[in-house]
Parts: sequence; C-alpha cells; structure tokens
Amino acid sequence: MSEWTVQRLSGHCGAVLRGGTLNDATDADMAQVREALFAHGVVVLPEQYLTPEAHIRLAHTFGPIDVNRFFTPVAEHPMIAEVRTTPEHVAVIGGTWHTDHSYDPAPAMCSILSARTLPPYGGDTHFASMTAAFHGLSDGLQATLKGMRAWHSDGSFAQSKLGLDENKDAFSAPVLHPIVVKHPVTGAACLYVNGDFTTHFDGWSKEESAPLLAHLYAHATQPVFTCRVQWAPGMVAIWDNRLVQHYATADYAGHARLMHRITVQGVALEGV
Ligand code: SIN
Repeated sequence: MSEWTVQRLSGHCGAVLRGGTLNDATDADMAQVREALFAHGVVVLPEQYLTPEAHIRLAHTFGPIDVNRFFTPVAEHPMIAEVRTTPEHVAVIGGTWHTDHSYDPAPAMCSILSARTLPPYGGDTHFASMTAAFHGLSDGLQATLKGMRAWHSDGSFAQSKLGLDENKDAFSAPVLHPIVVKHPVTGAACLYVNGDFTTHFDGWSKEESAPLLAHLYAHATQPVFTCRVQWAPGMVAIWDNRLVQHYATADYAGHARLMHRITVQGVALEGV
C-alpha cells in the first residue's frame, strides 16, 4: 500500500497527490484517493503514465463507465474518449466553464483525464468549487435557490465548432436537476448549474432565467473559488462533477494536445 502525500492547490479546491502509483493501485490506495477527491473536488496525480487498461481499471473502482456519446473514442478502447486538439484548432473541447454530462438523468460522478500529448505551453485546466460558490451566496439567494430546479440539455453540442454534433442520434431529452444538490457521499451542498448545459429554471422562461443564471456563473467562477492545474507528462487528474466545474484553456494555437478521458456514471441528484 502507498502512503499518498496531499498538497492543497488553493483555499477551496484541488490537491496534488504524490507517492503512489495508479497503474497498480490497491483498494487501500484507492480509498485514500477517493477520500482526497471528496475533500478537495479535484485531485492531481503527477507522473502516473496510465495505460489505457489501467485507466479503465481505475475508472471501475469508482463505478460503471459512462461512455461519452459525442466524443471520438480511443482506437481499440471505446470506453475512453479522446479530448484532442489539432494544431489547426479553432476551439477546444471544454473551453468554457461546465460540468461533464449534467444533461444525463443520473449525471457523471467523476471524470478521469490522463495527459498523452501536451503543448509546449498552456492548455491548463481550471476548476471552481461549487460548494464554496454556494456558501458564498447571500442567505436569501441560497434559500431561494434551494427550492428551485433547472433544465439541462446536450443541445449546445449542436452549436459547437468541434464537430461534436455528427452523432445526431446521441441527443436526448432535457432533464431536470435541483439547483443546489446534496453531494451523494458527503452531503455537501453544491451549486449545480453550468453555462454549457443548463438552459433555464423550471417554471421560468429562458429570458427570465438568463440574468440570474449569468449572475450565478460569474459568481461561481470567481478566482477565489478556483484552482489551476498545469499539466505535465504522465499526469492524471480526477474531478468530482458535483463538487467542481472545469474550464480547459485554449491558449496554445499551432500546437497539438491529446488527453484521454473516462467519465464515471453517477446517481440521480437530490436537492439539499
Ligand atoms: C474536459 O472538459 O473534460 C476537458 C478538460 C481539458 O481538456 O483540460
């Protein structure tokens, strides 16, 4: 069994875990990783060089794999999605603040991203704590939001410049989630709306919803709630999609970047 050391990345989310290997992690190793994940929202594990087989094994320690319906799968490993940017890219996957798979009735628990090819600079991923964001709201707005639900849809993929709309059969009906969800393991209150997939509040029109949603997005992604992950060869990051949102930085024009991502299935979310 390894003894991971845990170094926090910021005041509200993120921790770097060193001292163990994911390729042959024991149940005890994974128990520590899971504990750190729920405590910090995102854990970063340098120098892991995960094989695709170990990536899949690792994902299964968290739960069933939720294969992404829109991304290109890795050749010979259809459970793993490619997050690929070519040197000619005009946009990057995940280049806006979002929560993976919030458009699913039982949305993703965690995502596991493994660095394969990195640009010479840039391409960092930012994370923002949705528990800190929720507790940073006024008591009045917290109380109002607790009683509300919002619709989430995968429809934004149809407008993306990334060719993610090619699989037309993948689109599914919008789903409703509470705006403040109770973390299924820790019970923490998490703000659960995101700019990519939330369309409007239940019972409100899109026009009525837009100003309050814009306020929540601007509030939730303030630097004080975030941490920034600077990738290095062989690095792996695991994030809990209820606890954090994330944002991939598109600042490496002319260079390629390839990450392998697995998303692990979660459970239907309850309000606090
Ligand atoms: C994603 O949104 O899952 C991709 C994040 C990244 O490529 O940094």
